[in-house]
Amino acid sequence: MEKLSEGAESILYSTEFAGLHAVVKDRVAKGYRVRALDDEIRSKRTKSEARILSRASSSGVKVPRVLMLGEHQIFMERLDGDTLNAIMQEKKAKKGQLERIFLEVGKRLAELHALGIAHGDYTPANIMVSNSGVFVIDFGLSEVTKSSEEKALDLLLMKRSVSKKLYNIFLSSYSAAFSDAGAIAERLEEIEKRGRYQTRTLITG
Ligand SMILES: Nc1ncnc2c1ncn2[C@@H]1O[C@H](COP(=O)(O)OP(=O)(O)OP(=O)(O)O)[C@@H](O)[C@H]1O
Ligand SMILES: [Mg+2]
Repeated sequence: MEKLSEGAESILYSTEFAGLHAVVKDRVAKGYRVRALDDEIRSKRTKSEARILSRASSSGVKVPRVLMLGEHQIFMERLDGDTLNAIMQEKKAKKGQLERIFLEVGKRLAELHALGIAHGDYTPANIMVSNSGVFVIDFGLSEVTKSSEEKALDLLLMKRSVSKKLYNIFLSSYSAAFSDAGAIAERLEEIEKRGRYQTRTLITG
């Protein structure tokens, strides 16, 4: 199996599953945690991520389909494309392409929020663009929640990650596609007034 990525919590490999192009996201043991506790945390996060992926994909949201679930592994459909982060860094996007992508990025978040899913790490690193469209990946920090706070934080993280211009395109499409967008935007304003969550500034655009 070819290693695709190694993050803080997990390693991703490219593989085949039942004749399909797949990836396996393997949550690896953390040496610094007590073993039994570590196993439990990894199982919980794996189950939660798979459950949320399944909830989103069964409602037709563009996310990778879950193919099989192990104790600490998720086998999912392999998307043939690049992360939005990579596309933005290479600066080889054609004119108007980023704008079109960010319209979709807003729509995807509207679809997730309408299902009660707050993503938890909604940045260009966790968006993949393929010939089949704009997909959301990495639901490791996601929650199903009624609260507008976590949803507003999804907006805030995107705001901190991209240029004003791209954020505004994203926000207009999010707002057009989600009936509760007004309340979430208000919550975001409140959060910004409170002056919390100042730690992440990742201006890439
Ligand atoms: N379904 C998929 N198809 C193709 N590539 C994928 C898929 N899921 C993830 N990847 C690749 O693996 C990388 C890491 O995946 P993911 O974001 O889910 O894991 P992570 O543990 O959060 O890693 P990181 O800490 O690097 O963000 C992605 O940036 C992407 O390049
Ligand atoms: Mg990630």
